[in-house]
Amino acid sequence: MTAVSEPGTTKLQIDLRRHLRELDEDRDLTRLICEVADASKYIVNSIRTGDLGVAGTSNLYGEDQLALDVLSDRILRKRLIHSGVVATILSEETNEVIEVDPNGKFSVAFDPLDGSSLVDVNLAVGTIVSICRGGNLLQPGREQVAAMYILYGPRTTLVYSTGRGVHEFQMNHLMEYTLTTENVRIKPSGRIYSPGGQRNLYTEGTEKYVSSLEEKGYKLRYSGGFVPDINQVMMKGTGIFLYPHLRDNPHGKLRLLFELNPMAFLIEQAGGKASTGKQRILDIEPQGIDDRAPVFIGCREDVETAEELIARYG
Ligand code: AHG
Ligand code: MN
Ligand code: MN
Ligand code: MN
Repeated sequence: MTAVSEPGTTKLQIDLRRHLRELDEDRDLTRLICEVADASKYIVNSIRTGDLGVAGTSNLYGEDQLALDVLSDRILRKRLIHSGVVATILSEETNEVIEVDPNGKFSVAFDPLDGSSLVDVNLAVGTIVSICRGGNLLQPGREQVAAMYILYGPRTTLVYSTGRGVHEFQMNHLMEYTLTTENVRIKPSGRIYSPGGQRNLYTEGTEKYVSSLEEKGYKLRYSGGFVPDINQVMMKGTGIFLYPHLRDNPHGKLRLLFELNPMAFLIEQAGGKASTGKQRILDIEPQGIDDRAPVFIGCREDVETAEELIARYG
């Protein structure tokens, strides 16, 4: 794809809406993506100044909800409904699908605050959003029309794709998102690995895989936040994140619809790969809104090595 920045304009003068317009994106999809971007301005504010306590409720996954989970969910849901183009919504923090408008154009699955338990120790957290056409949320990830995440770190950055490359924006002092990197590309193999889950519960194939990375001198980088851990692979263009099947849990921990599908879409758009170890994440036919799956995601060759060892050793 040719860069949208015309000669003479610096990238930092291109904001999110202009970038989408110059990609000649569907106007309703542009509106939806910009509504999510607007919601993130309230979320980043609530992270910096909000209540770090618990909400006293738990979600569908048996996790105690934090006040920030519930607040971020409410902020995002309100903006999505306000967009006027959404048919259905699924949030990590609401226990059923929200029917918004039968004539709505898109279904949206989102993790309003991924890694929320890290906020009280001041580590980076994020918002993850998956967008499909139509009202059916149980579509395979390959049907997504867009995916994005916002990373609330030392800088607040937004990374999105509508299927034409991956592009990064940074929130400036006016809280506008301006273009920093266009057409992000991931190298074929990496130098870092991000191993989630308990190592002593890894199956033989995963254990052999991680040992092989260490023997090759890969450096361990794991924050416990899916968004910063994936963003490191994305923006450094190198490495692999894994949250594998464990001996006591064949499905792993991460949720398919609002964590794995959007990140797999983005990583594939940047030239990487995303697998359960046995199949492409984006080809999984969802069975339920709470589906989970194991994940190996990042540099293509590193994912393929994992698939080979898991095929051989389980
Ligand atoms: P969430 O905060 O949205 O529930 O997600 C937490 C996830 C994800 O951010 C991360 O990759 C994973 O939990 C870390 O799990 P461990 O704490 O088991 O490493
Ligand atoms: Mn959670
Ligand atoms: Mn999450
Ligand atoms: Mn979450």
